[in-house]
Formats: sequence, C-alpha cells, structure tokens
Amino acid sequence: MAEPRKIIIDTDPGQDDAAAIMLALASPKELEILGLTTVAGNVPLSLTSRNARIVLELCSRPDVKVFAGAERPVARPLVTAEHVHGKTGLDGPELHEPQMPLQSEHAVDFIIATLMREPPGTVTLCTLGPLTNIALALEKAPQIAGRVQELVMMGGGFFEGGNITPAAEFNLYVDPEAAHAVFRSGMPIVMMPLDVTHKVMTLRRRVEALRAIGNRPALALIAMLNFFERFDVEKYGSDGAPLHDPTVIAYLLKPGLFSGRDCNVEVETQSPLTAGMTVVDWWRVTGRKPNAKVMRDIDAEGFFALLGERLARL
Ligand code: BDR
Ligand code: CA
Repeated sequence: MAEPRKIIIDTDPGQDDAAAIMLALASPKELEILGLTTVAGNVPLSLTSRNARIVLELCSRPDVKVFAGAERPVARPLVTAEHVHGKTGLDGPELHEPQMPLQSEHAVDFIIATLMREPPGTVTLCTLGPLTNIALALEKAPQIAGRVQELVMMGGGFFEGGNITPAAEFNLYVDPEAAHAVFRSGMPIVMMPLDVTHKVMTLRRRVEALRAIGNRPALALIAMLNFFERFDVEKYGSDGAPLHDPTVIAYLLKPGLFSGRDCNVEVETQSPLTAGMTVVDWWRVTGRKPNAKVMRDIDAEGFFALLGERLARL
C-alpha cells in the first residue's frame, strides 16, 4: 500500500468545510493531514480558527495542528457569509468552546516551512476558502510554487455562473487578487467549481443515510447541514443544499468520481460587475495555456456513498 498523501487543508469553516475536514480525518490510510490553516471567509478569522478546532475535537483529533492565517483579503475589505452559515459560521449543533490551542506560527509561515521541508512534489494544498493564505505564501516565497504536488481548490464556476454575484463564486469573490496570483503561479491546480458542487445536493434521503451512522461527528454534521441547507432551499427551491467543500477531499480519495478537462482559467480582478469571475477557456478558443484541471461532472451517488462509508469510521 502506498504511503498516505500529505495534505494541508486551508479552510474557513463553514459547515461544508467541516464535512470536508471530517472526510479527510476519516481517511488516514490515504491522507496524512500535516495541519489545518485558517483564513477569513465565511466568517472572520477568529471564528474560522475556533470552528476548525471545534471540528477536530468533535472527531477526537486535537493532535492535528491549527494555524491561523490571513484576517483579510490581500487588497479588499473582507466579505463574509453569515447569511448562509449563521453567526458562528458553524450554526446548527450546540457548539462547545474548543480546548486545544491555536499554534503560534502564522499559517503562511507554516505553509512555506512545510513545503520547503518536505521533498518537492509531496505536499498537496487543499483550499476550501478564499485563496489569501496561498497568495501571501507565494508572495513571500515564490519558490514554493514548484514544490507543491497539487493544489485542489473549491472555487469558481463557469457554466453554472456564480453564487454570491451572478458571475462569481464566493471563495473567488472574496479575494480575486489572491486567486489571480494562484492561477498565475504555475502550481498544478485542480478546480472544483459550482458546476460540480451544485450536483452534490444534500437530498433528504442522503442526509437520513448519514444520520443512521449515529456517531458524534455524523450527528453534529447533520445538525450543521440542517441549518446550512435552509438558505439554498429557499434560494433554489431545491431538496437540500450543495455540499461544496468535501468534493476536494473526495477527489483525492476517488478521482474516478470526477470528470473535467485541462483549461486556461483567468480571474477577473478589475470589473466591479464581475469581480472574482473565473473565465474558463473550456472550448479552447484562446491560445492561452491550460493552467488548471477544471472539473465539470461528478458521480453524486458515489460521492455520498464515500462520505457515508468514511464518516462511519470516525
Ligand atoms: C464556498 O463558499 C463557502 O460559503 C463554502 O464553504 C464553500 O467553500 C461555496 O461557494
Ligand atoms: Ca469553505
């Protein structure tokens, strides 16, 4: 059996971030989590840093280190999404105060130090929020770009449009300048856009199957999802909400669930109307070089089967 793949999860929890973190924690044979780095996004940094630790403790994994990162986007004021995630960012279950400490090292320094210490091409960055920490790390130590095995991000949207504006997906909208730097960096990028995540809906029957697992993390997650979905149910009139962030982890575990193609992706930073839009050259109508593997489809039943099978191990 191959060694587990080393990952850093950069995150702004967020109920769907929590699901992603749980999926990774439940998969130690395949994934070794070197640390969680937090970023301001769904809620301010103090809350995302708190929530990351709450999720780890819910899964009895206070040994995984949490590093707090950027408090605000590189060039803009912070935009948050309490209207989706609630006041805490993790509304739903009753939340305890985390006991485990935050690390004193800044997330950006942790990312750089880890990439410089580990052999080149052996660390994967999983980004579930705005790309601020990664852009700051690239600015401080551009040589890390060549050492990343892969950066797998939840972000962007193309055929599906945006979710925070008609043109932009939330993670890219919050920090378009950071995203622009990441897409220009030359790192191997895999992008999980809304085109994929809008296909993994928390349908009632799927949530009930997760509830039947009955362990503490699964029950907490169900309470989170029940809160989280009310916004999308109202917005889209759908049965449930898109479970965005765990698609990143599912890709590392079972890439065969996904299909997409190598494309050039540019991020709009200038226009107020379309800031944060990911312009994907899906049809190769420009001569621009592909810089990302852009996913478009997912086997949704296979994804939820994987999630259920793994959560039952926690
Ligand atoms: C993304 O934005 C956040 O609200 C979610 O956690 C996810 O990362 C979806 O647009
Ligand atoms: Ca997120």
